[in-house]
Amino acid sequence: MKVIKTSNYREMSSLAARLFLTQIQIKKHPVIALPTGSTPLGLYEELIRYHKECNKSYANIITFNLDEYYPIKKEDSNSYYQFMMRNFFNHVDIKKENIFIPNGECSDPLKEAKEYEQKIKNHKGIDLAILGVGVNGHIGFNEPGTLIDETHLTDISSSTARENSRFFNNILEVPTQAITMGMKTIASAEKIIILANGSKKMDIVDKISKGNIDENYPATLLNNHKNATLIYTPYER
Ligand code: GLP
Repeated sequence: MKVIKTSNYREMSSLAARLFLTQIQIKKHPVIALPTGSTPLGLYEELIRYHKECNKSYANIITFNLDEYYPIKKEDSNSYYQFMMRNFFNHVDIKKENIFIPNGECSDPLKEAKEYEQKIKNHKGIDLAILGVGVNGHIGFNEPGTLIDETHLTDISSSTARENSRFFNNILEVPTQAITMGMKTIASAEKIIILANGSKKMDIVDKISKGNIDENYPATLLNNHKNATLIYTPYER
């Protein structure tokens, strides 16, 4: 794992944006896995700026979001569907038919997970996976102790529910499950960028940086990936 420490959040976000822009030029139709959360907001803002001010087009890219709560309605302001529309997709030229997000309002989440994985395979896998990381080391919703798996339905751990409850009225409103791309699918990506910022994330940054692999900290499962970069800053936004 290549580890890059930046001097602030802005620098972390613009470096990630530059790597993203380089990567989308390599292939005609690059397939990118995208995260939600507070961490990638600066990256999305930077990509929107490149689109609006420098005419950068993302019309050739195909995106697969890492995860979605289950169950959740698309219109729910806490759904990752709304998050992505609000913070990225509504402001750029990615084609609607090229945007994939697990469907949190489907009736059969096991089937949905299987079909999502198949769609990724139909696109020949992920070229670039951009990831955030939870304080407990979760990636997407691959929680501590997770199996190295394909896209699946999973329970949200109590520590992640607590972390994510800041976006809801209370912890009881946080959905108990999620559909998440699995660690096997993520680790199969050609290139991986993990972003982390803020003092709360420094323990997990330390664990990833040391290169050990420990399934209690799912992010460390990516430590033997051949083309993975961790970009971090100890500072808040
Ligand atoms: C959520 C998402 C993860 C994300 C994590 C960290 O649980 N499922 O994909 O990486 O939160 O979020 P934040 O960037 O807000 O710290």
